[in-house]
Amino acid sequence: MTRLVSSILERKGHDVHRIEPDATVFDAIGKMVRHNAGSLLVMDGDRIVGILTERDYLRRVALEGRSSRTTPVREIMTLDIVYVSPRHSVEDCMAIMTERRIRHLPVLDEGRLVGLVSQGDLVKQLAADRQVEIDVLRDYIAGSYPG
Ligand SMILES: NC(=O)c1ccc[n+]([C@@H]2O[C@H](COP(=O)([O-])OP(=O)(O)OC[C@H]3O[C@@H](n4cnc5c(N)ncnc54)[C@H](O)[C@@H]3O)[C@@H](O)[C@H]2O)c1
Repeated sequence: MTRLVSSILERKGHDVHRIEPDATVFDAIGKMVRHNAGSLLVMDGDRIVGILTERDYLRRVALEGRSSRTTPVREIMTLDIVYVSPRHSVEDCMAIMTERRIRHLPVLDEGRLVGLVSQGDLVKQLAADRQVEIDVLRDYIAGSYPG
């Protein structure tokens, strides 16, 4: 069975947490903590201009000694965003994440933002699907060899 990104979004929802590029990193971290999310899409109005992740914070604020209260998000965000479509498979997304060393993929459908999937979302879905396969096989074996 090929599991698609669209089915993860059906369960998870289509909301994408976002922040403006001129907001401070301090505000961004507060928002990430409130939403229990490791990324924020950086949007200037309707335009996606970057993505901010926990890793950006570690590398460009914590390590380089910047102040989160005065540094704007635009100074530390990642500009090179990798997108997927709702028709990408979970396996393809995992391969992209491994190759690009990223953990969050915003989802675009014909140029329209329709969600975001994380590494955790993909692993959770794969694990659930594997469990279903195991249960089906177990029932089949139990049915084939009664008593
Ligand atoms: N993904 C999950 O459902 C989940 C649940 C509980 C714990 N965890 C654990 O947390 C750790 C990191 O999890 P992760 O890889 O899911 O990353 P994460 O902590 O960034 O994501 C957590 C959840 O927030 C969502 N999220 C993150 N940024 C978002 C954004 N900008 N807009 C909308 N939703 C956003 C993700 O899709 C995911 O559902 C892992 O150790 C994982 O096991 C994951």
